[in-house]
Amino acid sequence: MLGNFEFCNPTKLYFGDESLKYLNTELPKYGSRILLIYGGGSIKKNGIYDEVITILKDNNKDVFEVSGVMPNPTIDKLYEGVQIARDNQIDFILAVGGGSVCDYAKAVSVSIHCDEDPWDKYYLRMEEPTCQIVPVGCVLTMVGTGSEMNGGAVITNPKQKLKIGHVFGDNVMPKFSILNPKYTLTLPHYQMIAGFYDIMNHICEQYFSGDDDNTSDYISEGLMKSLIHSSRIAIKDPQNYEARSNIMWIATWALNTLVAKGKSTDWMVHMLGQAVGAYTDATHGMTLAAVSLPYYRYIIPYGLDKFVRFATNVWNVNPEGKSKEDIAKAGLDAMEEWMKELGLVMNITDLGVTEDMLEGLARSTIVLEGGYKVLNHDEIIQIFKESM
Ligand code: NZQ
Ligand code: ZN
Repeated sequence: MLGNFEFCNPTKLYFGDESLKYLNTELPKYGSRILLIYGGGSIKKNGIYDEVITILKDNNKDVFEVSGVMPNPTIDKLYEGVQIARDNQIDFILAVGGGSVCDYAKAVSVSIHCDEDPWDKYYLRMEEPTCQIVPVGCVLTMVGTGSEMNGGAVITNPKQKLKIGHVFGDNVMPKFSILNPKYTLTLPHYQMIAGFYDIMNHICEQYFSGDDDNTSDYISEGLMKSLIHSSRIAIKDPQNYEARSNIMWIATWALNTLVAKGKSTDWMVHMLGQAVGAYTDATHGMTLAAVSLPYYRYIIPYGLDKFVRFATNVWNVNPEGKSKEDIAKAGLDAMEEWMKELGLVMNITDLGVTEDMLEGLARSTIVLEGGYKVLNHDEIIQIFKESM
């Protein structure tokens, strides 16, 4: 049965190859002191920085900057950004970059006017903001996380070996996001394919849970089929606008809360992947690719019917003459083949995990209860071993 829910996604999107001009529509709504946040410099190389600065100046904004936001942004970097925002009495935050930059911008926005330590409050204690929130807008340059239309803000604490996501509410979600598929065409191949798998896994995390008949699962199947189709085009022809723009749109819908409505969700692959990220600083999508198949193969017996449905509806596995178990396994085999076609990293050893880290990895893994099997410590160790 479809559960009860509320749905409101307050982020306004501007999509398309001319979408940056709508910054002119949005900027007048906010104060004059803008904090421009970006990453390690890709936006300076591909010209997006200059385009954004021109629009900010045309709108008479005072621009302050936080640059060098790294993939998997750290808590120390968050403290730095909060200080700059406080010193300059920022009215509005403009994030220009991928998920790391957008997540980071949200984490800054809830911390500027907060007296407490953001790591303790938002990540260890998982509390909601009780202070003024500085509004955020995003210009997205990397596709995968869905951060452009959700409240997620993942921060890594390398000293504590913890990578934790806080999903904030509507009031923290970007006020607007600008999605220009052309901006993603300069992504390095490795990042592009990591993003593709991140999208796939976001959908899987919400699909592999529950056994009721739920419209969200049908939407998920459509999104997965569109992703498989367009990703196969994009790896052969990365400049293909049609495929890349479809993938950008799929990524947003994969994690803007829609496909989780009225149903339970899993998210254990992300918990396992985040532990790997905390230890190795590996690219997010690759950490997911490396742990997914051992996890899904392990939980097949607990969610058999959904895995059968996944195999037949998403991967077109012919069920004739096969047991349910064989159909389910054939679905995951088909996904494995696709992952290899993309060229994803398929084990955690290649991401820098060594045998002596396994206990620590298991301790850093947050165990969630929404999936088909609540994992215990030994099972987590076993899945990490099989992912090596
Ligand atoms: O830093 P720059 O120089 O900009 O380079 C970035 C970075 O090295 C580069 N890049 C981005 N756009 C580019 C580009 N290079 C050339 N041309 C462009 N157009 O790509 C690299 C990776 O960027 P990053 O933002 O780190 O990637 P992604 O979007 O995958 O974000 C990853 C972060 O998001 C979190 C992850 O854990 C990780 O910390 N997530 C956020 C979620 C959310 N908000 O809901 C959910 C996800 O599951 C995920 O956990
Ligand atoms: Zn993800």
